[in-house]
Amino acid sequence: MHYFHYKTNNLYCEDVKVSDIAERIGSPCYVYSYRTLMEHFKKLQSAFKAINPLICYSVKANSNMAICKALVNEGAGLDIVSGGELFRALKIKTDPKKIVFAGVGKTDEEIEYAIKAGILFFNVESEQELERIQEISIKLRKTVDVCLRVNPEVDPHTHHYIKTAKKESKFGLSFAAARLLLLNRGRFFNVQIKGLHMHIGSQITEAWPYIHAIKKVNGFIKEMKSHGVSFQYLNIGGGMGIIYKKEIAQTADIFAKAIAPLLKGGLKVILEPGRFIVGSAGILVSRVTFVKETESKNFLVIDSGMNDLIRPTLYEAYHEIAPLHRRPKAKQRQYDIVGPICESGDFLAKDRLMPQIHAGEYLAVMCAGAYGFSMSSNYNSRLRVAEVLVKGDKYFVIKERERYSDLIKKERIPPLI
Ligand SMILES: Cc1ncc(COP(=O)(O)O)c(C=O)c1O
Repeated sequence: MHYFHYKTNNLYCEDVKVSDIAERIGSPCYVYSYRTLMEHFKKLQSAFKAINPLICYSVKANSNMAICKALVNEGAGLDIVSGGELFRALKIKTDPKKIVFAGVGKTDEEIEYAIKAGILFFNVESEQELERIQEISIKLRKTVDVCLRVNPEVDPHTHHYIKTAKKESKFGLSFAAARLLLLNRGRFFNVQIKGLHMHIGSQITEAWPYIHAIKKVNGFIKEMKSHGVSFQYLNIGGGMGIIYKKEIAQTADIFAKAIAPLLKGGLKVILEPGRFIVGSAGILVSRVTFVKETESKNFLVIDSGMNDLIRPTLYEAYHEIAPLHRRPKAKQRQYDIVGPICESGDFLAKDRLMPQIHAGEYLAVMCAGAYGFSMSSNYNSRLRVAEVLVKGDKYFVIKERERYSDLIKKERIPPLI
């Protein structure tokens, strides 16, 4: 569900004609729909209202401050994975008691920064990390709350790179390792282990992997209770999928109906959705630079590439691609839609059947709101694109397009050269 639709053959975001934005702001640019963003957040809130979870939006999906702030204003907390994301969260005045911090490689500086900021808790991913947090908390003379991220060893049948709870994953602790830490928690006298965390993967379109994982975690909670260990929080992570192609992605209501009954054990539940909230709320607008026809392929060479949206290259992800101006009677043609980068992996779509397109036309890469701009780079010294937020019939630049001078701003040529 989203608010990008055609009116008289022109693509609109809410009440704004997207090509007007492209003409004014330039191409490429990301365009986000405020209403789509808000509705997804509210759908989750309402689907889970019986258990009143804290919904910590996963900043990595789209870290733009305007996006995060819009969600924080609606009551969201934030799930962060770096000092940079903490900086963003604090800049937009997120209540630190609504910030949770995951990640397998938190540095001393990041741990210290988060303790000083007074976040709700760390999601601890190893014994070594727990020891480090204990040392730093002693140095800072502050007790610290943590949850242990457990690995329930469930394969959610999503892309290999976004499965995070297989036995061989780098994330979290096995139940055996978590058990050992909990039974010896006296060692960590400055750290309170307040709960358990899991995150089994991303773009999961069915409830069963969660059901399997939560049942395992619930069993572990019960076992720990018999040893006198009780918890306050159960964080079930993010991962809810969206419709990129023809997936039958579940609605928030169906998802909640399936898993909420397993979450009624009295612990405060935390969710960490990213993609579900922001994925379909954004598109990447690009312009066709050349139509290159060869003996074997027709290429649409467009002005955005894998540096702007890496998902097709990295995960072989499918994104629907549609012209901003639709010509219903145009002939269908098959195209590879490729970027200008010097890599054969620089494509946004392969063998895509679509109405014939001419050089100079604009295209929309749909459902690019999550892991789009936030994974973009300056590879090939390309400028990171502008981001625009539409609300009703108004739009706002929420990130300016970079300039060439931005590329070299932090670079220095030493005197020896
Ligand atoms: C710990 C954690 N929580 C939440 C998320 C958000 O996942 P998604 O965007 O699939 O909801 C991620 C994504 O990698 C994650 O690693």
